[in-house]
Amino acid sequence: MTSGACDAPIGVFDSGLGGLTVVHALLDRLPAESLMYVGDTARVPYGPKSPDTVRLYAKQIADFLVEQGVKAIVVACNTATAHALDSLRQTMPVPVVGVIAPGARAAARATRGGPVGVIGTAGTITSGAYERAIHAENAAIEVRAVACPLFVPLVEEGWLDHPATRLIAHDYLAPLRLAHVDTLVLGCTHYPLLATILQEEMGADVRLIDSAAETAEATLQLLSERGLLSQRTRAPEHRFIASDAPERFLALGRGFLGSTITDVEHISFA
Ligand code: DGL
Repeated sequence: MTSGACDAPIGVFDSGLGGLTVVHALLDRLPAESLMYVGDTARVPYGPKSPDTVRLYAKQIADFLVEQGVKAIVVACNTATAHALDSLRQTMPVPVVGVIAPGARAAARATRGGPVGVIGTAGTITSGAYERAIHAENAAIEVRAVACPLFVPLVEEGWLDHPATRLIAHDYLAPLRLAHVDTLVLGCTHYPLLATILQEEMGADVRLIDSAAETAEATLQLLSERGLLSQRTRAPEHRFIASDAPERFLALGRGFLGSTITDVEHISFA
């Protein structure tokens, strides 16, 4: 691999803004890398959509990122990872990292023998992808998975510490408390923003797993194994692209990533 190719950006995509949790972790762990982020704000949410639709959207975005010359792709969306990671790995000419295997690995390390809970969108939970990934780490781990479809709209509404969110979390998490899970995987980009409520509802002894940091670690490992780590001495350059309302993305993204986002471009996948 030439140093030009090593200095190409890492492509990152999500159904919307939520994947910025993964961007945050990548900036932290891979500060020399340039990132090109696509948020599919025109077609969010992916959670309730069929696997075929999510695969089509994921392929369109990955094709675009490859055309732009990225050296690797991070699928920063649990639902897209659940439905599309295998097909992207088969068809893309660059390595593709998902968020599920890294989260599953961290959960398998964190559990103290009790069941592991997983929460995610309807699509992620129905796919069974987390169960498979956790069992690939350790087939003896009991996994309890629960879909929490109302969490994404609550986070999008900014209701991070709202009584309604607490009530809904209490209800969704009841089967996991009853099962005495000792580890809870936050299997959706938006859920780390609800960590305080989730921790309170589950109790202080339950370990919460945020896949973002683990995914950044997995990306670092992959780039290093393939000789793809950036060699550049200049500061990295990041691009942020949204498929709808780039100004809104910029305003919300700034709140999250500060001055790392200076501008948001628009793209249409229709
Ligand atoms: N990014 C999605 C995920 O991690 C959550 C938002 C959506 O439903 O599109 O599953």
